[in-house]
Amino acid sequence: MVKAVVLGAAGGIGQPLSLLLKCNPLVTELGLYDIINTPGVAADLSHIATPAKVEGYLPDGGGLKNTLTGAHVVVIPAGVPRKPGMTRDDLFKINAGIVEGLANGIAEHCPKAFVLVISNPVNSTVPIVVEVLKKNNVFDPKRVFGVTTLDVVRASTFVSEIIGDLGKSKDIVVPVVGGHSGVTIVPILSQSSHPLPSGISDGDYDKLVNRIQFGGDEVVKAKDGTGSATLSMAYAGAEFADKVIKAFKGEKGIVAPSYVNLTADKAGGDALKAELGTDIEYFSSRIELGPEGVTKIHPLGKLTPKEKSLVEAAIPDLTKNIQTGIAFTKKSA
Ligand code: NAD
Ligand code: LMR
Repeated sequence: MVKAVVLGAAGGIGQPLSLLLKCNPLVTELGLYDIINTPGVAADLSHIATPAKVEGYLPDGGGLKNTLTGAHVVVIPAGVPRKPGMTRDDLFKINAGIVEGLANGIAEHCPKAFVLVISNPVNSTVPIVVEVLKKNNVFDPKRVFGVTTLDVVRASTFVSEIIGDLGKSKDIVVPVVGGHSGVTIVPILSQSSHPLPSGISDGDYDKLVNRIQFGGDEVVKAKDGTGSATLSMAYAGAEFADKVIKAFKGEKGIVAPSYVNLTADKAGGDALKAELGTDIEYFSSRIELGPEGVTKIHPLGKLTPKEKSLVEAAIPDLTKNIQTGIAFTKKSA
């Protein structure tokens, strides 16, 4: 039995993500929570002939408690998206408080659940969730994940375009490490399962890196004020949730990048910090998943000089973003 929950389930990401989770045969119960429209979304999804029993809740009458009770996996896409001209950090003012409130609910009603954070800025909202769980004495670093899967999905797609075979995109695996915004997104293209064409020019390589780092802006611009990536994010979020659920059910050898607190695997985290040359608390690296969440944080491995400088460039922003998240929870204490 697996109960999955979506917080922010009526939104642009929330609805298609809920649809994909309803279609996941491993999910037996699906709890949908939002401040609007969840009864309608739940009624609609409940007609789909798949195992999950769907329930939708609003804040009134203990809705958050009812949604979260018994949850194994909680995915959080609640919060405002970007408009053109905004950075993800510009969302912090509104989204920090939303994520903090929901994390308090998780601490109270399902402290053992796996928490998958989508709400931006992920580099800061994950530390907020962690600090709230710590305050409530229920923090388990193995169970909190920043969802960076969209960067990995984009890297697979854009590399397949360069290779000239979109049919391969699903098989192309590129580790994308660091965080989830601008220069903190670091694709390790030298470790791609499918190498780039050997004659790729420096200019084309740099363009590819830039497109992976700023793919979100491409969508924000195209949506022209109506939001940011929702459908590709729902796909990516459902893919990562599926990995967490499969590992929880005992499947072995599942490895994917995710932004985690580096104490999730002390030895792996310390080795990664040594590679990075900094005492940073959070980083997205390839992690191995098991029934209890993170079982291993993998090292970055061999990097090219260009990749080394991309990793170095990510550290200052990432450090600042982490501090912003932590400082917010201290202020609101
Ligand atoms: P949206 O505005 O379409 O949906 C957000 C939903 O959250 C709305 O339905 C809203 O009612 C709900 N909400 C607001 N406050 C809430 C609360 N306190 N409790 C429960 N629900 C609440 O936005 P969207 O396009 O779905 O994006 C959501 C978030 O995901 C944004 O912060 C966006 O930046 C982020 N995002 C992250 C990634 C990623 O890769 N991690 C990718 C895309 C978008
Ligand atoms: C993305 O990468 O698409 C998301 O983080 C949304 C955004 O603001 O770009």
